[in-house]
Amino acid sequence: MAVLLEEIMPSTDHASAREFFRFAAELRPAIENALESNLPTAPSAVESKFNDAVRYAVFPGGKRLRPVLTMLGAELFGGRPENVLNAAAAVEYIHTSSLIFDDLPCMDDSPERRGRLSLHEKFGEGLSTLVAIGFLNQSYQLVTLDANGNRERSVRAVLEIVDSVGPAGMVGGQSVDLKIATENECKLCSRSRLSSVLNLKTSALIKLALRLGAILSGANGDGRVDVLTRFAESLGQAYQISDDIIDLREDARIFGEPGNGDHLANAMRLLAEESARAKGILTDNFPASPARECLIELVDYVASRKD
Ligand code: IPE
Ligand code: IPE
Ligand code: MG
Ligand code: MG
Ligand code: MG
Repeated sequence: MAVLLEEIMPSTDHASAREFFRFAAELRPAIENALESNLPTAPSAVESKFNDAVRYAVFPGGKRLRPVLTMLGAELFGGRPENVLNAAAAVEYIHTSSLIFDDLPCMDDSPERRGRLSLHEKFGEGLSTLVAIGFLNQSYQLVTLDANGNRERSVRAVLEIVDSVGPAGMVGGQSVDLKIATENECKLCSRSRLSSVLNLKTSALIKLALRLGAILSGANGDGRVDVLTRFAESLGQAYQISDDIIDLREDARIFGEPGNGDHLANAMRLLAEESARAKGILTDNFPASPARECLIELVDYVASRKD
């Protein structure tokens, strides 16, 4: 089942995030359409299983949070959300590839994703690896479409992907997680110990999502992009802590792991601090606008989400 953000709303008591959920629900059909029409499928003569796997990885999908962020990033910088739909799809494809890699036996070894078999369990490791590369590759071309022939913008957009996927971003962050897994440490405490590389993986993609929307809407070096970046890092941080809390609770439920109480309390404190920081960055630097309010509501949702 597709997870619609507004479907989560009643169970998590997020009436205060009404505008964000309304915005996300309104954009959802256009996002699904952009994802459908840009799929990195192979010519039918090549290998039909590849195309089945491509579809399986994207549909019905998850919360589609990152494409919504791209569209909010555009609106915050005076652009129209519907003008960055290709970039929004590109960001979701990059996210998709990151999850395929993340689930592989050589990484988190997760047999399930979004309540069903992970891609490699269903289609095998080799094909899944190729599909993940296919999604990544597609994204570089896709972002250029929203630059509307402006070559400088186009190059900037592609370089944004290079930065966010690379060793200073997602790939580097995932390598930190690999190290943590090898040492069999608790993710929450070791990430805070390794604070200089704290959560590059999730922040990198959230940063990418927001910055692409801004850049493709004409934002330049006026300093507000830097502020947006700081906000994105903070939101990414909060998002990963909330994800770790959910994972920790789930592990405790399944395995009845004792002794997580301190980690959990610490993580919840960090989450509250980071959420307050994220909201402060927005309110201190951007004038009130519907896009700003949506982002503030999103932070509140992240701070209290349960799934
Ligand atoms: C999961 O991200 C991986 C993390 C970065 C924490 P999401 O929770 O946004 O995944 P989906 O796309 O909604 O399933
Ligand atoms: C994955 O983090 C983050 C990225 C792939 C960038 P996790 O390993 O915590 O994500 P889940 O819990 O499997 O969704
Ligand atoms: Mg992982
Ligand atoms: Mg994982
Ligand atoms: Mg997780």
